[in-house]
Amino acid sequence: MEAGSAGPENASLGGEVVGRINQLAAISETSQDLTRTFLTREHRAAAELILTWMRSAGMAAHLDAIGNVCGRHEGDRPNLPCLMLGSHYDTVRDAGKWDGPLGLITAISCVGDLARRGRRLPFAIEVTGFADEEGIRFASTLLGSRAVAGTFEESVVGTKDRAGIPMREALVEFGLDPDHIGAAARTRRELHAYIELHIEQGPVLEAQNLPVGVVTAIAGATRLVARLTGMAGHAGTVPMRLRQDALAGGAECIGAIEESCRTDDSGLVGTVGYIHALPGAANVIPGQVSFTIDVRAPTDAHRKRAVADIVRQIENIAKRRELSLQLDVTHENRTVPCAPWLKQQVAAAISGEGFPVFELPSGAGHDGMAMIDIADVGMVFVRCRGGISHHPDEHVELADVDAGARVLLRLIENFRPRDEARR
Ligand code: GLV
Ligand code: MN
Ligand code: MN
Repeated sequence: MEAGSAGPENASLGGEVVGRINQLAAISETSQDLTRTFLTREHRAAAELILTWMRSAGMAAHLDAIGNVCGRHEGDRPNLPCLMLGSHYDTVRDAGKWDGPLGLITAISCVGDLARRGRRLPFAIEVTGFADEEGIRFASTLLGSRAVAGTFEESVVGTKDRAGIPMREALVEFGLDPDHIGAAARTRRELHAYIELHIEQGPVLEAQNLPVGVVTAIAGATRLVARLTGMAGHAGTVPMRLRQDALAGGAECIGAIEESCRTDDSGLVGTVGYIHALPGAANVIPGQVSFTIDVRAPTDAHRKRAVADIVRQIENIAKRRELSLQLDVTHENRTVPCAPWLKQQVAAAISGEGFPVFELPSGAGHDGMAMIDIADVGMVFVRCRGGISHHPDEHVELADVDAGARVLLRLIENFRPRDEARR
């Protein structure tokens, strides 16, 4: 069998997953693209749909204190620790439909398959759909998985979205209690492991002609917001040498960030993905500009050095242009290695399905970065077309969805908790 071709016996599992991916993608804040962010009406509608799927897969399912969807398939006895599977169901702006939902929906379909066969395992299976991984609405990321890991910082409920709505207010509007987010927290004793299937979001598996891969580690990331303040003024009357143009200063900073990362050939990447200038009129010199900075590197030491260098350059630009500067770190995550004992079980499931075992790191962030605080983490990557992600052209072939589903199902059925796996 060619690596990547699906066996007919599981085509229905892949078909179910793709059908649900399409149904979920129809729930969007905007009509022209796919955007689904934390605590919106669309978050609520998506949660209700996913809870329906969980229940039809035989799971007890509920919405937790941060808006995650949680399903549980009991083991061969009640109250056993679980193997937790999951991924996120929020999206970036103008997103693809696979980033997050593929892992969540595949996990639900695998549990549905077990339930149809009346299969109970010596551990429970829980599937968690995390409500906010991307961090699009409130700048802090991984809010859903941090709440589950018990590391949600209460102070973030004070942050505001772009429309000035505080998270506290959005939580109340959604029907959640901002003072009881701690109720979503789980403990290490309740979990054997956290395993996530996700699209690769890069071109490596495609280049290897492989449908699936074993993830070795999730690269760390730092996100900052910079705000430069100068002096607004008349675009026709203020001579160039007397200006304190915040946007021109921001543009210089953005160029410096790109240059620092472009001239580093060891995998450092830096992105300014959002910029906002005020007051925002063609005939007014911009008095203030805010922009985000996202920096990632293969090692934490490398990323930290790069961030320090970028901060120094921004400070120098601000000083020379007589702009005042506020720089805030909004997100900082260390590199998270996948547990060797879980990598072994992922590899065994891949080779058990007849595919060559190939290991690769994840440049993208995932909920495992938060879950590591209460569980060992494993990940399976599924090939995507052209390595495209965070873009509406993101695509996974049905055969690869099938391959991923079969690998995950085999992984679940053969799963052995760490202590037993050692024996
Ligand atoms: C999540 O997709 C991230 O890597 O930013
Ligand atoms: Mn993403
Ligand atoms: Mn994702």
